[in-house]
Amino acid sequence: MPQDGDLAGELRLRDGHMRALTDLRLSVTDRCNYKCVYCRTGNDGAQFSELPIEDYARILRVFVSLGIEKIRLTGGEPLLRNGLLDLVRETAKLRPAFSSEPLDIAITTNGHLLAGLAKPLKEAGLSRITISMDAVDPETFTRITRVPGGFQKVRDGIRAAQDAGLGPVKINCVLLRGFNDTQIEAFAEFSRREQVIVRFIEFMPLEEDRTWSPETVVPMKEIVERLNRVRPLVALAPNHVSETARRFTFDDGLGEIGIIAPVSEPFCGHCSRVRLTSDGKLRTCLFSQSDHDLIGLMYRGASDDEMSSWIRQIVQHKEARHHIGEPGFLKPSRSMVHIGG
Ligand code: 5AD
Repeated sequence: MPQDGDLAGELRLRDGHMRALTDLRLSVTDRCNYKCVYCRTGNDGAQFSELPIEDYARILRVFVSLGIEKIRLTGGEPLLRNGLLDLVRETAKLRPAFSSEPLDIAITTNGHLLAGLAKPLKEAGLSRITISMDAVDPETFTRITRVPGGFQKVRDGIRAAQDAGLGPVKINCVLLRGFNDTQIEAFAEFSRREQVIVRFIEFMPLEEDRTWSPETVVPMKEIVERLNRVRPLVALAPNHVSETARRFTFDDGLGEIGIIAPVSEPFCGHCSRVRLTSDGKLRTCLFSQSDHDLIGLMYRGASDDEMSSWIRQIVQHKEARHHIGEPGFLKPSRSMVHIGG
């Protein structure tokens, strides 16, 4: 936290609740080559929307000038996007406005196309990678992704990322009751054996289908109990205040587990994130009821300064918190594939 009166503290992007906004998630496409049961209906044929890579690059530049220090490229599936390497290369030239650390550039991918892209991504300037992988056995994996043959590709992708120097690789696993809750123990072994950080994520109501109910969520408490039976867990300190994951290792120091519990233990009070959808809309919360048309402003000829002032105003209204599971909770009209995780 910057000191009061500190110039950087005054200038950096903050919302109306005085939260410093340092993380931007940019969805570079809403296309995806998987149809994961917790995200997509599986019905193709929807309209896709993407902006030219130069437009994303300009928007990223404006955000970095405002105090964004971490950029995560998401989708849809970002590795499907033509020009992705150019975008990473351009982004890697940017320097955070109020920090002497280099800009942190990460990608969240399903890993299907990663084996051939890990090295070029690293060379383009990517800092880190997160791979979504919801099962460690091929049958369960395919039952979730609904695309055959992916499991081995993702395994190869993980190896390639490690070989390219993008480690420690993070693996995201969304736990769904009745689908992959049997995989918790196997993932613990996987983390220990493959030296990856496995992060279990509670299922949030962001899917195209309306399948979410409180019963489909595997809560943090249950995950912790089950992991503790594999081997005693040892808590690790958070990396920073806005860390979303509770971090653990096991009593022998082997393996790392993160548990992200937006449903049972929301962390909105420390939220440092804003999002840009693939069609250029600024989104202040995963659960926002509407988006803000940044690209419209840009296409009407706004200067970087005008875009910056507009962004500062919009984020004043960033939601204090989400209301998952509360009476009257309204599911956002856009699903995760459109918002970008
Ligand atoms: N709830 C929780 N996590 C989700 N993800 C996608 N949809 C959901 C959901 N409804 C995860 C993906 C990916 C990350 C971007 O978000 O698996 O790892």
